[in-house]
Amino acid sequence: MAIQRTCLAIVLAAGEGTRMRSARPKVLHAIAGRSLLAHVLDAVREAGGTMTAVVVGLGADAVAAEARRIVLDAEIFVQAERRGTAHAVLAAKAAIARAPDDVLVIFGDTPLIRPQTLTRIRGALAEGAAVVVLGFRAKDPTGYGRLVLEGGELLAIREELDASPAERAIKLCNGGLMAFAGPTALAILERIGNDNRKGEYYLTDAVTIARAMGHKAAVIETEEDDVRGINTNAQLAETGAVLQQRLRQAAMEGGVTLMAPETVFLSSDTKFGREVIVEPFVVFGPGVTVEDNAVIRSFSHLERAHVGKGAMVGPYARLRPGARLQEDVHVGNFVEIKEAVMEAGAITCNYDGVAKHRTEIGKNAFIGSNSALVAPVKIGDGAYVGSGSVITHDVPAAALALARARQVVKDGWARRLRQRGSLGKRGTPTK
Ligand code: UD1
Ligand code: CA
Repeated sequence: MAIQRTCLAIVLAAGEGTRMRSARPKVLHAIAGRSLLAHVLDAVREAGGTMTAVVVGLGADAVAAEARRIVLDAEIFVQAERRGTAHAVLAAKAAIARAPDDVLVIFGDTPLIRPQTLTRIRGALAEGAAVVVLGFRAKDPTGYGRLVLEGGELLAIREELDASPAERAIKLCNGGLMAFAGPTALAILERIGNDNRKGEYYLTDAVTIARAMGHKAAVIETEEDDVRGINTNAQLAETGAVLQQRLRQAAMEGGVTLMAPETVFLSSDTKFGREVIVEPFVVFGPGVTVEDNAVIRSFSHLERAHVGKGAMVGPYARLRPGARLQEDVHVGNFVEIKEAVMEAGAITCNYDGVAKHRTEIGKNAFIGSNSALVAPVKIGDGAYVGSGSVITHDVPAAALALARARQVVKDGWARRLRQRGSLGKRGTPTK
C-alpha cells in the first residue's frame, strides 16, 4: 500500500493509574527499558504517523516531557477533567481541525500495539471507511465494549454497563483503538453525547453516529496481546513478559544464540551483531550494542554500554553507562566498568587459580591495548593505563600507569648478529 496519506495520531494519556498505587503517572511506567508511552509513540512513528498529539491530565508535565523526548514536535493537549474517551479526543480538536487524511486514536497504556496493526487500520480508512474499530476475541470479555455485528457489518459498540445479556455474550470486543477519516472526524465526534450509565462521552458511540450519517464503519481484527491494557502492577508485569518473548524471538530470528531465552532480559533498543552468544541469566538495560561474535556470559548486567567485536563479557560482569569495550576485550568475573574505554586485547584477570577478585574501572578511564588488569585492582576515574601494561596495583584517579618492560635499543646489534651467524650460548643479546 502506498501510504502518501497524512496521519494524525492522538494518544490518550490522561489516566492517573490509581490502581498502580504509585506517584508516577501510569504511562511513565516502563517495560523492556522504555515507558509505556514511548512504546506507543514508537509504534505510531513506524506506522507512518506524521503528526502526534498527546492528551495529558492536568499538571502532567512529566508525561508531556516524555512525549516530547520521543517525538520532538508532539503537540500536547490538556484534558482538565476526565469526562470520557470522546471528550479526551476532543481535547485535541485543534489538531483534528487541520484535516489530516487519517486520525488514529490510541491509548497510552496499550504498549504492545504493533505498527503493522496500525497500518492495517489505515488501510481500511484508505478503502473508504469513516470509522475503523480494532476488535479482538477476548478470552474473558468482562469490562470490554462488545462489537455488535449484523451480516458482517458493524452496527454498534456496546459498553459492558449498557449492554443487554445477549450483547454481553458477544466475545468480539473493542480493543479501544479507533481510527477516523480526517474530513468527517470532527462532525462525528462532536455529535457524541453522554447519555449512558456512566454519564461519559464514549468514543465508541462514533460507530452508530457515523452509520446514521451514511458513512461506513469497519472492524479490523487482531490478537488480544496487541491491545493489552495496563491498569495494575500485575498487568504491567504480564505485559512486560509478553514483550520479552517478542524481543527474544526477534533476537533469535536475527541470529543471536540465547542459550536459555527465558532467563535473558532485553530492552527494546538492544542491538546485536551477528553470531553473538548470550549465556543464561543476563540483563540488558537500555542502550546496549553488542557487535559480531561477542559472547556475554552468565549473570552479567549491561546498561548503556558498547561491546565490540569478539569481546567476551562476564560471567558476573557489570557494564555501567558509558562502558566501551573495543574489539576482542575480555572482562572476566566481578568487574565493574563505567564511562571508560577498554582497547583491543585488554583483559581483566580476576581469577588467581583459587579465588575470584574484583576489578573496578572508573569514569573516563582509558585502558590501552593488550593490557592485563590483575584483580583485586581499582583503576581510578580518568586514569590512563598505557598499552601492554600488566597492572597489579591500584591506579589513582587521573594518573598514568605504565607497567611494562622498558624498551632497549642497541645500535647495529642485529647487523653484528647476522655477520656472526648465531646468537650467544643463551640466545640472548651480548653487546
Ligand atoms: C475503553 C472502551 C471499550 C474498550 C476498552 C478497551 C470507550 C468508551 N470504551 O473502555 O469499548 O473495550 O477501552 O480497553 O472508549 N482516558 C482519558 N480521558 C478520559 C477517559 C479515558 O485520557 O476522560 C484514557 C484513559 O487514560 C485510558 C483510555 O483513555 O488510557 C481508555 O479509558 P478507560 O476509561 O480505561 O476506558 P475503558 O473503560 O477501559
Ligand atoms: Ca481501560
